[in-house]
Amino acid sequence: MTAKTRIVVSSDHADIALRQMIASHIAERGWEVVDIGPTTAESTDYPKHGEAAARRVASGDCALGVILCGTGQGIMMAANKVDGIRCGVCSDTFSARMIRQHNDANILSIGARVVGAGLAIDIVDAFLDAEFEGGRHATRVDMIKALETSR
Ligand code: RB5
Repeated sequence: MTAKTRIVVSSDHADIALRQMIASHIAERGWEVVDIGPTTAESTDYPKHGEAAARRVASGDCALGVILCGTGQGIMMAANKVDGIRCGVCSDTFSARMIRQHNDANILSIGARVVGAGLAIDIVDAFLDAEFEGGRHATRVDMIKALETSR
């Protein structure tokens, strides 16, 4: 299977069961899921898990990523520090669709203490079903990318 259909999944300790549920769901959709853990509920630091997922995507090893922490916010902030990553936290399906269509987001972040499992799966589906629209949105995404070289 090529990187185009490979997706990385990661989280901190707040959300292991939901991450595994999401990973199974994505696999059932036909993606090769790279679940980089963690596997125990022992307290762990979300920045390293956000970075690890982000590097998989930034390197091209995985096309997309889904990451989780309690709020989805901290792990999103860490992932977005890696050049090439555009990650948004979504608690609704509209936002999950739009970050793909307009922002060409390559990682979706979910707050496991914010949304229930059913909504989380719908959010993942909305993200995976959407495609970047390009055009005027590509110009804006290029402006985001340009910020990486200015820091
Ligand atoms: C861990 O308790 C919690 O701080 C983390 O999962 C996340 O919500 C941070 O943004």
